[in-house]
Amino acid sequence: MRRVVAGNWKMNHGPSETRAFLDSFEMPTGEGVPRVLIFPPSVSLAAAVAHPGRPGGLELGVQNIHFEASGAFTGEVSAAMALDAGATLTLVGHSERRHVFGEDDATVARKAAAAAAAGLTPVVCVGEKLEERRAGDLASVLLRQLDAVLDLLPGTAEWLLAYEPVWAIGTGETATPADASQAHGILRERLAARGWSGPEVPVLYGGSVKPGNARELMDAPGVDGVLVGGASLDPTDFSAIVEAGRR
Ligand code: 13P
Repeated sequence: MRRVVAGNWKMNHGPSETRAFLDSFEMPTGEGVPRVLIFPPSVSLAAAVAHPGRPGGLELGVQNIHFEASGAFTGEVSAAMALDAGATLTLVGHSERRHVFGEDDATVARKAAAAAAAGLTPVVCVGEKLEERRAGDLASVLLRQLDAVLDLLPGTAEWLLAYEPVWAIGTGETATPADASQAHGILRERLAARGWSGPEVPVLYGGSVKPGNARELMDAPGVDGVLVGGASLDPTDFSAIVEAGRR
């Protein structure tokens, strides 16, 4: 499977900074390069789409959508709107959406299903909090989050999964490659047990990925790529992480 390197800019890089990023981002090309995805803030999407120096092959997504198609939902955007604006993917269920904005498993699942129905590829994020991990609940949390999505997602959907342990996000604490492999194994086993027979689902690792640890994480069994927060804001660092994913 072709590796995937994704950058989630979170609430960083407005339109001007997005243009500046793309002016200096050198996207690795040639044999074995990963797919490269960037998730800018929605208001910066147009700047990225229209940028004359946008590297060919760079895929753009939004960080969140609403599950309804339209209506009185102040501040929200729908999957169809994001698609119309030039996004081809959306993050769904990022831990900050779950834990800062209170999205529950059912909401995340509805968003994933709405994205897929509109033709926007969902990148479904799952992950356990530190206290859940310490309590031995890693598998039960991941499976609860995954099952909710599998209950609603059509079996033909193209989608990606991202394992992002909450304790490793923005903390400088990285899961070890073995931790990542273990969690990815849990997710893959469940996909198989639930009879997933749609398109192959790449499973990414996210949480304090940097140029210095990206390669060993992507080399870990079961890890198909990375979802990068802080280090994706810097064009040189992000380029180095993409290069680290070259097979
Ligand atoms: P950091 O890479 O900053 O830890 O963020 C990870 C993340 O949340 C990506 O979605």
